[in-house]
Amino acid sequence: MTERTLSIIKPDATARNLTGKINSFFEEAGLRIVAQKRLRLTLDQAQAFYAVHAERSFYNELCEYMVSGPVVVQVLEGENAIVRNREIMGATNPANADEGTIRKAVGKDVQENSVHGSDSPENAAKEISFFFSEIEIAG
Ligand code: CMP
Repeated sequence: MTERTLSIIKPDATARNLTGKINSFFEEAGLRIVAQKRLRLTLDQAQAFYAVHAERSFYNELCEYMVSGPVVVQVLEGENAIVRNREIMGATNPANADEGTIRKAVGKDVQENSVHGSDSPENAAKEISFFFSEIEIAG
């Protein structure tokens, strides 16, 4: 089943000029980047995007980190793109990520883990529409 998922290349990765390297992981694994833009989140936007984590101890730190530099938000498309992207990213904590995954290759720690990917079809739809209108997505 062809799906779309929302991906974010996070500030730790944009700071190290890793956008192209990370995009190669997606493309070599068969996912297509059908929308992409680089922007700086406001604190309000970061808090809204991660509202699901509002009760977690790391929420404030996470939001501060997500506004600390530019991010690249993107829509990835392909067969089972949501699960596939989570496989390509690897475990949330880079210390637990498998060889060959993005977080193993470039993730710094559990917070500065270089990439975000939607975790379900419902969240993918919400997260894509948070950043993109349909006219900005070209499959
Ligand atoms: P992400 O996949 O974007 O989803 C929530 C984010 O919160 C996660 O990646 C990490 O950046 C961050 N995160 C998750 N767990 C922790 C933790 N224990 N401490 C700090 N940050 C975390």
